[in-house]
Amino acid sequence: MTVNDVTTPVGNPYQRIYEPLLDERDYRVAQIDGTLPKELTGTLYRIGPGRHQVGRTLLHSIFDGDGMVSRFVLDGTSVHYRNRYVRTRHFEHGQRSDRIRYRGVGTQISGGPVANIGRLPANVANTNIVNYDGGLLALWELGNPHRIAPDTLDTLGPFDFDGKLGFLGAFSAHPKWDPVTGEMYNFGLDLLPTPRIRTYKVDRAGTLHRLATVPMLDLAWNHDFALTQRYLVFALDPLIPDIPKVALATHSFIDSLQFKKSKGTRFLLVPKAGGKPRIVEHEALLHFHLTNAYDDGNDVVVELVRFDTRWNEVRRLTNAVNPGSPESPQFPESRLMQYRITQGGTVIERELTDRSVEFPQYDWRRSTRRHRYSYLSGKSAGATVYDSIIKLDHRTGTETSCDFTAGSVGEPLFVPRTPDAAEDDGWLLALNHDLAEHRSQLVVLDARDLERGPLATAWLEHHIPWGFHGTFTRRRHSADAD
Ligand SMILES: [Fe+2]
Repeated sequence: MTVNDVTTPVGNPYQRIYEPLLDERDYRVAQIDGTLPKELTGTLYRIGPGRHQVGRTLLHSIFDGDGMVSRFVLDGTSVHYRNRYVRTRHFEHGQRSDRIRYRGVGTQISGGPVANIGRLPANVANTNIVNYDGGLLALWELGNPHRIAPDTLDTLGPFDFDGKLGFLGAFSAHPKWDPVTGEMYNFGLDLLPTPRIRTYKVDRAGTLHRLATVPMLDLAWNHDFALTQRYLVFALDPLIPDIPKVALATHSFIDSLQFKKSKGTRFLLVPKAGGKPRIVEHEALLHFHLTNAYDDGNDVVVELVRFDTRWNEVRRLTNAVNPGSPESPQFPESRLMQYRITQGGTVIERELTDRSVEFPQYDWRRSTRRHRYSYLSGKSAGATVYDSIIKLDHRTGTETSCDFTAGSVGEPLFVPRTPDAAEDDGWLLALNHDLAEHRSQLVVLDARDLERGPLATAWLEHHIPWGFHGTFTRRRHSADAD
């Protein structure tokens, strides 16, 4: 099927990374350069905003586009591609109308404050997709997950863990798994009546249990967290809502946030086993994503990507998604950092790379324990968008990369060669948007040798709009059965 089309001019070539993919496709990939590893069998899922528009009306924020799931079935010799939009209310409305009916995170309904006052952002299910209970959940951090059928990618509807989520049903987009127990941990932000973080554990049977609920005080927003054997670890940055702007709806939610450097960042440690959460103050940081965390004696060590760019610039970038935008994609300067939080409340900061990076990944089997390797997308010298896959060896300090000419590279996911293979013995799977061809590629790299270049490059017949996150499962859905 084809969703509504809108014709827009294209200026900066990098703007094409946000162009919509309006078709829903299903085909065996015809062009594969190199050789797919025979042992690499399973299914890769990716998600991100597939179109930044309601009907023919353009939206104004990277966070407001309709979630589109891509599925890649790998059988060791071929790749089968399918994409489907999540059938949210926002998506369905955009199929019928050109009028923005639902408020977004960064998009206002036309008609001024009166049209927006008291309205929460629409759930567009565009941020992450995770395996759950034999199926998939498409996640968006201020509302319910949407259940997705893993073979067809059909939307099965919103899911609230049998009514156990908090007031607004928020289940954030970055759950973490304890690889020893198989338990999934996550949090949800309740914005009303005052912001609070609800923390959750989902047991192996899929039942959700509530852990601590922590007031956010004057803070408004947090995107990610990490897990140790003892704690859920949050870094709460001083993004503070301008109350009149929020209350009177004169600005969008994202445009209502201010970065109050003097307030500092608070590391919040929530014990998994219950008990009083701990808060450790630090100088102000700005970040979206954490990597892994672990306990080291009585210390807690956590890794995150710190933006070295001012909040207003990051905010403007998130609004630069359509060709009418005055901004062009110029991704922020950032660093992968390590923070050691001591028992005495001291925070020791260490820079792990001076290269601008994002979408930090690691071998998920190392979750809660010290990991040796981190994998990221990042910028090569002079690049304005992420055009490289980067690997850091924290033991030796070695940094290696695979750079793509005229490319835009997304989050690299690590897949171990076998369930008990050593850390780093496996592959990195990432999407690269080749801007010269305006087509996306699934690239497969040997995680131990990035500089060799891709082992295999599967060329799609089209591009995939710049997206966020994904997951891999060894379960291989039969493409022929679709
Ligand atoms: Fe994220």
